[in-house]
Amino acid sequence: MFSAVPGGHAWKGFPVGLGLAALGRPGYINLGHAQDLQHEYDVAAMERRAHEVLDAAYGAGIRYFDAARSYGRAEFFLQSWLASRVDLTDLIIGSKWGYQYTAEWQVEAEVHEQKEHSAERLTRQWNESRSILGSHLNLYQIHSATLESGVLDNREVLEKLAEIQQLGVLIGLSVSGPAQAAVIQKAREVSVNGVRLFDAVQATWNLLERSATEQLQQAHDAGMIVIIKESLANGRLTYRNPQFVKEPVWRAVQSEADRLQVSIDTLALANVIQQPWVSIVLSGASTLDQLQSNLTALSLLEENIPSDLLADLVESPEEYWSKRSQLKWN
Ligand SMILES: NC(=O)c1ccc[n+]([C@@H]2O[C@H](COP(=O)([O-])OP(=O)(O)OC[C@H]3O[C@@H](n4cnc5c(N)ncnc54)[C@H](OP(=O)(O)O)[C@@H]3O)[C@@H](O)[C@H]2O)c1
Repeated sequence: MFSAVPGGHAWKGFPVGLGLAALGRPGYINLGHAQDLQHEYDVAAMERRAHEVLDAAYGAGIRYFDAARSYGRAEFFLQSWLASRVDLTDLIIGSKWGYQYTAEWQVEAEVHEQKEHSAERLTRQWNESRSILGSHLNLYQIHSATLESGVLDNREVLEKLAEIQQLGVLIGLSVSGPAQAAVIQKAREVSVNGVRLFDAVQATWNLLERSATEQLQQAHDAGMIVIIKESLANGRLTYRNPQFVKEPVWRAVQSEADRLQVSIDTLALANVIQQPWVSIVLSGASTLDQLQSNLTALSLLEENIPSDLLADLVESPEEYWSKRSQLKWN
């Protein structure tokens, strides 16, 4: 339900999407991941779990599903789900290229994913994702574009992406790291044959990391679809984080959640959905309970959550991404 608007596209659909980073592979960085998967890594068992969460998400109204070539078997779990359900309509499937999955279905791995933003990798991974997801693949994104990777200056890659766009597939990028804002600003200016290339941007924004606010606002105003990832800071904005008990600033947020009779993740997600420039906020839930708790955020949208209360949580981008890089794959 991406509809064309002057200068770009708008999302007229459900404000929450489902990301499959935690559902598609045994190992991921989110707090408590292994526990949530109940240490059950048999491919069939993980596929069943993914289908349960996908069914619940679709039943709740979610229509955007976010995968990546590097999320283990996430694309295959989406493929088998799409093939086994007859009444699925208005679905938008997004995937990403750039990272290669290297963990061989293990939780413990030397390297879990390896990034290369080359035209060769784009061509190979596009063919792979297209053969798995077929015409369901409607949004194709660069995975974690950075200034260092040079991908936004790689004309061969940009022209290949424009060719894919000609097939009616929207083109996007996801950004990561302390310099997200600078990458988004550069991406907004990228054009091929005089036409802006990127239809969508996916960025990390949450109560702790808000450095991309202005650039995301401008991207939205320029007609780009804005997708938010890591709205729960990989679990740091959930009850799992002991800071909510120990530290005064965090305890104050916990009291606000208690006053509203919701859990921390619900409050954190509601705060992201309320941002006027957001099109879709991704839930990274890997259990039905987490998904339900995340979706409760929609009932909080009328609530006036005191922004100053939450402002005290903000970390510098450097601090935030350094803490993220220390999260253990589990
Ligand atoms: N570079 C990129 O392009 C990029 C990077 C990251 C994410 N993403 C996308 O964004 C999506 C979401 O991001 P994310 O999963 O990385 O991070 P997130 O949304 O910040 O965190 C989600 C994690 O928080 C925990 N959680 C969620 N609800 C909970 C609840 N009610 N109670 C306790 N714990 C709860 C779960 O951890 P467990 O897994 O431990 O259950 C869940 O996986 C991904 O699936 C992916 O599609 C893209």
